[in-house]
Parts: sequence; C-alpha cells; structure tokens
Amino acid sequence: MFTLRVNGQTQTYDGDPSMPLLWYLRDVLGLTGTKFGCGVAACGACTIHLDSDAVRSCQTPISDANGKSVTTIEGLDADGNHPLQKAWRALNVPQCGYCQAGQIMQAAAMLKETPHPTDDDIDNAMQGNICRCGTYQRIRAAIKEAAKGA
Ligand code: FES
Ligand code: FES
Repeated sequence: MFTLRVNGQTQTYDGDPSMPLLWYLRDVLGLTGTKFGCGVAACGACTIHLDSDAVRSCQTPISDANGKSVTTIEGLDADGNHPLQKAWRALNVPQCGYCQAGQIMQAAAMLKETPHPTDDDIDNAMQGNICRCGTYQRIRAAIKEAAKGA
C-alpha cells in the first residue's frame, strides 16, 4: 500500500509498485493535464513535481512517490494563476499545447531554485523539454516575464 499526496490531497494505492506514476495520475486519478509523449524520458511532456523536483512521470514508478508530494499542472495554482501561467497567457506561448504542461512544470521547478534565471540557466533547465511546434522563443520570454514578479 502506497500513500502519497497529490495536489494537496492524500491518496492511497494498493497495486503494482512498478506502475508509472503517469499512468496513475491520468488513468486512476483522471488528472489528464500531464501528457504522454515518448514514454522513455526523452520529451518532457509528462513532467510533474515530486516534492520540489521536476521529474518525468513516465519513467517514475509509483513506488518512488510513496510518502512524497506530487504536484501536477492542475495543482500548480488553484486558480491557474501561477506567475508562469499568467505569463504564458500574456505571451500566447502555446501552439498545439501538447508539451506545455510539461514545459510549465519544468520552468516552475527551475524558478523555485533560481528565481532570476539567465538565458543559460533557462536553456540548461529546459533542454529536455521538447516542443514539436517550436515555441522555444516564447517559452523563454514567458519565463523571463514570470521571473520579473518573483
Ligand atoms: S512522456 Fe515522459 S518524457 Fe516523454
Ligand atoms: S506547443 Fe505543440 S508541442 Fe509544444
């Protein structure tokens, strides 16, 4: 039996310990904001926070979350008004949108560690998050915009 907190709520799970956390979030809890892209930790679409770290939930067994806090895009801010979400809207960052929850979760973890990132900080933190629509310039601009209010 695993106990974890997901977006502030305590959850228990009594199943396969090797089940990817992504499956649990989407299929068991119905939190479909976190996306499946590659399944092999190569695209970043499934990025969530495990405690304060950004992790790829497709390659994180649910057993790794036992006793920890998970935050998904649905829990980043109750009203969808995290500074990054506001900047994303202001700058119209998404194109198809598929990668964007992962991008925001990766950026949010970086800003907690580095509230005023340089271009290199952003590039290093975001390099594993792929956007097939090529929104990278707007992502960088929105991270800088959000950092102004940090
Ligand atoms: S789906 Fe997890 S990194 Fe691509
Ligand atoms: S907005 Fe389409 S994949 Fe990033």
